[in-house]
Amino acid sequence: MAILNLLLEHRDVPGITNIDVWEAHGGYEGLKRAAAMERQAIVDEVKASGLRGRGGAGFPTWIKWNGLPKNYDQPHYVLCNADEGEPGTFKDREMLLKLPHAIVEGIIIAGLATYSKVGYIYIRGEYTEPAWQVRKAIDQAYQRGYLGKNILGTGHDFDLYIHMGAGSYECGEESALMSSLMGERGNPRLKFPHAPLPTVAGVWQAPTLINNVETYCAARWVLANSAEKYASYGTERSKGTKIMSVSGHIARPGNYEVEMGTPLMELLHQAGGVINGRLKAVIPGGSSVQIKTAEDCEKINLDYESCGANGTLLGSGGFMVFNDLTDIVQLMKRTAEFYMHESCGKCTPCREGTRWMFKVMDRIASGAGQQGDIELLLSIASQVDGRSYCGLGDAACWPIVGAIKAFRSEFEYWIEHKCSPVGSRFFPPQVEAVNPILALSAR
Ligand SMILES: Cc1cc2nc3c(=O)[nH]c(=O)nc-3n(C[C@H](O)[C@H](O)[C@H](O)COP(=O)(O)O)c2cc1C
Ligand code: SF4
Repeated sequence: MAILNLLLEHRDVPGITNIDVWEAHGGYEGLKRAAAMERQAIVDEVKASGLRGRGGAGFPTWIKWNGLPKNYDQPHYVLCNADEGEPGTFKDREMLLKLPHAIVEGIIIAGLATYSKVGYIYIRGEYTEPAWQVRKAIDQAYQRGYLGKNILGTGHDFDLYIHMGAGSYECGEESALMSSLMGERGNPRLKFPHAPLPTVAGVWQAPTLINNVETYCAARWVLANSAEKYASYGTERSKGTKIMSVSGHIARPGNYEVEMGTPLMELLHQAGGVINGRLKAVIPGGSSVQIKTAEDCEKINLDYESCGANGTLLGSGGFMVFNDLTDIVQLMKRTAEFYMHESCGKCTPCREGTRWMFKVMDRIASGAGQQGDIELLLSIASQVDGRSYCGLGDAACWPIVGAIKAFRSEFEYWIEHKCSPVGSRFFPPQVEAVNPILALSAR
């Protein structure tokens, strides 16, 4: 198990953003096959593939597709989540930029399967160039008759629009995305079981399907190549491939599509290995998931079950590599700052808790930590995690709790010695007090 380019197969083909080149490489074959099928047969094909959502949670895709009412009594919508705000994740960007037709095709297939006539691609505000490529792909798809009225003679109409976000991490959360799309403030909504699922009452209170960019691209691959073939890759419960965005202290950063179940260390090897030191830690699925030590990394495979069993998550596939010169406390201070900044402020645990966690992290990382600060961090996290209105509150806690679990001695070192355990390796004990990090924060 290693690199397996199903979705990224054609990313480097010259001119692949052009519909002629895309079609010459099998493009829109998935749509043509879907157009000749019954709606339920498309859903069943996705079910047979075992595809799970690639936006982070790994929810079975077919259950969502099957959940929309099977009639045209009211409008239905298909949304593509291209907000990609998770730190360390840049796979959707490359798909949007280099393979826009794969996304457009996948969304039209979803429209056919869910009786939807309108789709929106919600693109992160900073992704102007990728959005431009998608715009061109949509125009070309209209010219070919893949979008618009009576697509491919099916009697089915489908229109597709782009909606640009404004660079808010929270707007990637599906219910906040829907609020933002409707022109409201990007706050999340009440969730099931306290409110209906989006498939029942989503955007404009109409049945709505929402999936990630990679999920639509994988569904397209399934329709173009068969569920059986897709399901032959991966593990028993994690089928197919996952695109991992590899960054940090690594020789060849970039997007790598790996077969589910590939050993974590194999991906490190494929990406050229750690640079400027030895491996210290990896965050496998974006900043919201738990950091793992080099020792733990040996045991982890890149699939939902193995990551879960080892106390972390595959998440969005934002694979961040850290060498042994990394100061974990400084890393967590920066992470806490991110979540504090992105908290939308709607609920008290997250609004207050993220700020409080950052303040404690900041004082530890600037040499003013106090005895009991580690317990304080764990206590705050226990009151935010699972008690916030949406997943951002949980996501703010997991990295800090995970880092304390894996690297507690580094937090203790900072509190006791008022300087970095990493920095101290380069300074004899008597000059630890002039650790450059401390000197900077004292200014
Ligand atoms: C704070 C927060 C931010 C999120 N950001 C994204 C994002 O940028 N892109 C994404 O696809 N999913 C994101 N999600 C997950 C979405 O809510 C949703 O689960 C996903 O789009 C579903 O698609 P899937 O079933 O294809 O995975 C985020 C969730 C949370 C809690
Ligand atoms: S958890 Fe955070 S981001 Fe989510 S609603 Fe509460 S304040 Fe807003």
